[in-house]
Amino acid sequence: MLILGIESTCDETGIALVRDGRIILRNEISSSVPFYKKYGGVIPEIAAREQVKIIIPLLEEVVSKVDIAKIDAIAVSYGPGLIGSLLVGVETAKVLALAWDKKLIAVNHLIGHFYSNWLQLESNSKLPKFPCIGLIVSGGHTDLLLFESHKKYKHLGGTNDDAAGEAFDKIARFLGLAYPGGPEIEKIANEFEIRSTKLENIMFPRPMIYSSDFDFSFSGLKTSVVNYVVKNNVKLEPNNVSRIAYYFQEAAVDVLVSKTIKAAKRHGAKSIVVGGGVAANKRLRSRLSYQCSLSGIATFSPKKNLSVDNGAMIAAAAFFNQNFVDPLVLSADSSLYF
Ligand code: KG4
Ligand code: ZN
Repeated sequence: MLILGIESTCDETGIALVRDGRIILRNEISSSVPFYKKYGGVIPEIAAREQVKIIIPLLEEVVSKVDIAKIDAIAVSYGPGLIGSLLVGVETAKVLALAWDKKLIAVNHLIGHFYSNWLQLESNSKLPKFPCIGLIVSGGHTDLLLFESHKKYKHLGGTNDDAAGEAFDKIARFLGLAYPGGPEIEKIANEFEIRSTKLENIMFPRPMIYSSDFDFSFSGLKTSVVNYVVKNNVKLEPNNVSRIAYYFQEAAVDVLVSKTIKAAKRHGAKSIVVGGGVAANKRLRSRLSYQCSLSGIATFSPKKNLSVDNGAMIAAAAFFNQNFVDPLVLSADSSLYF
């Protein structure tokens, strides 16, 4: 089944062609992130305007050499996200489904991130197995899901305040680093670790690490970082900035890994899959892999180009879930959850 996947929930426009939810034929992404460097965060109006500008040229690029008759369905992420951005992808998908007489499949963007782990894996033996724990960590969400099968999943918990990526972005802005903050923090934290002979731990808290639920909280961690700097009169010069970035990342990763492993053990999971922008974080990936190897659980994280928002993951999720909808009825849902 050949699916054209459309993603436009935030600051990336993604159009992809994916066969059978696994094989990427095309995956084009255009990002408006460079526009936000000077603002320290996404500006919804700019994001929506860029979506409008780029979506048709990107679509033309992807389908230019394709026989449209061979496309079986159009998939689109219809939420959650920024309403202006979302509308661009959803309305484009609806028009294409009507004009080309194709089936339309609606995809929850967050579930889409989960399916980036099904793309281009070499053999079936390497696919995630059910029951499976999904950790979605992005700029807007931090959620733990239990998947019993492709179509049967349950939300176990999520953040009570800031999302993990949001915490990285906010701490980065406080430390004077560029947007998006996650990759910046990861880079200097890594450099700090390499050049430090002895690591003296700044004990930033691990909020809710021992709570009996599967919820998270990152806003207290952010406040502790700010308080540490203010109370100790820490000058934000490069060495201090990278030291704080390192210990902040350790605290955030500790909580994410600990709760995810706890969920996997509680539910007898055979696999853990991670999705969302923060899934690109190497410290998170390696800590999770290590813990999983101790517990005999397989862990999957997407390749870097698939951890950002993209159309291929939307097409993959559409193939496995097949949530067919009427193009005349579908509407964007900015606060869609589970
Ligand atoms: O999933 P995504 O591309 O967009 C949303 O749907 O939010 O995630 C973007 C988030 C940003 O907060 C960004 O700082 C974070 O992912 N991020 C990272 C890394 N790369 C991106 N966070 C930590 N480490 C990274 N390497
Ligand atoms: Zn996303």
